[in-house]
Amino acid sequence: MANVIVVGTQWGDEGKGKVVDLYAENADVISRFQGGNNAGHTLVVKGVQTILHLIPSGILHDQKICVIGNGVVVDPQVLLDEIDKLTSRGLFPPNTSLYVSEKAHLIMPYHRRLDLAREGRRGGGKIGTTGRGIGPAYEDKVARTGIRVGDLFDSDSFREKLVRNLEEKNFLLTNYFGEERVDPEAVFTEYHGYGERLLPFVTDTSVILHRELRRGRKILFEGAQGCHLDIDHGTYPYVTSSNTVAANAFSGTGLGPAGNFTVVGICKAYTTRVGSGPFVTELSCEIGRRIQDAGQEFGATTGRKRRCGWLDMVLVRHAIRVSGITGIALTKLDVLTGIEKIKICVGYQTARGERINFAVPANLQVLANCEPVYEEIDGWTEDISQARRIEELPKNVRKYLERIETMADIPLVLVSVGAARNETIVLKNPFIS
Ligand code: IMP
Repeated sequence: MANVIVVGTQWGDEGKGKVVDLYAENADVISRFQGGNNAGHTLVVKGVQTILHLIPSGILHDQKICVIGNGVVVDPQVLLDEIDKLTSRGLFPPNTSLYVSEKAHLIMPYHRRLDLAREGRRGGGKIGTTGRGIGPAYEDKVARTGIRVGDLFDSDSFREKLVRNLEEKNFLLTNYFGEERVDPEAVFTEYHGYGERLLPFVTDTSVILHRELRRGRKILFEGAQGCHLDIDHGTYPYVTSSNTVAANAFSGTGLGPAGNFTVVGICKAYTTRVGSGPFVTELSCEIGRRIQDAGQEFGATTGRKRRCGWLDMVLVRHAIRVSGITGIALTKLDVLTGIEKIKICVGYQTARGERINFAVPANLQVLANCEPVYEEIDGWTEDISQARRIEELPKNVRKYLERIETMADIPLVLVSVGAARNETIVLKNPFIS
């Protein structure tokens, strides 16, 4: 029995929430390992939509252990709101096993303020962050000035760290950005309250995960964002501030890579991107708007419109390499229904006439000037949402899937034909290796 790491192969919003929710059925433990409430995982269960930002998507299943690992940055207010909302719908019974790493870094109010102030200053060069304080929280972690979840339970040391940090942050906020200062006492009181409520959930989650692995329990690692938002392997600087690739499932939870792990890459049947940065297959025509409408491509976190374009296999192949992906889960295939001719980007042509097939150029100027090389296939008009086996799909849909599989050079393990749990074709269960 394998443990499964789920990661995005594009710029996030690939539909990881639905796939993680499905795979959670076969898992005992579901763990987040990076990112924070910049993520928004949308799930539709029995016709009811739930959007989760921090709590692993497995929470909607009974009897599962859900873990927020050390690599996540936690906004405690958002986490508590999420717990409250689930509780009010009866989805968070008192015996729910949710564990939060004591080593996860906290998002503080000054992180949000700095995130927004910096974006405001960047003018045309905006990254288009979610404004949730993610970047500044990870900056403090790496600068060794961050405050961790575990710090909430030692009032003296928490106050000391907070006061010291705010000396510097307030200087920046007031003198550089011309903003109001943040009052340390107000933050102390607010966060002290969060600490009291979070205490029952906080522990050394590495020990829990290790214990469950030793017991032969199956772990599902839930990645957030996507490969091309990775701080090292993405389209830097138009990225998020964490490693979104599969390798971070280990350092972001406190487990080692030895063992039985498999990596599923989630890939939308087309491409979207929120925020700024080059996007070779972007469609600014009617088809782009049509995909945006049909796919409801609006950010689950910020409500922003997502930019839409054709499926880009250069992005996907790059992701397969850097995350060691062994199977592709293709999502939102139904969104392409009714488009007469569908294009797949099979390579890039650089401004210097070179052909690129596998690796997204690191130089963004080069990337921005790349032209997509397309292959065109005939579309389909039939409703595919009722298909539960590949054989039930129209011929042109199967052709599209075959081309993707051939170009990815790894198998498709799942195809999603609608938002609901059952609107899915499962080709291989990754928990069974
Ligand atoms: P940050 O993570 O808020 O710092 O934003 C950095 C970049 O990552 C921006 O372009 C965001 O739009 C993008 N981003 C962050 N989280 C997500 C996500 O869950 N889905 C899609 N894009 C995201």
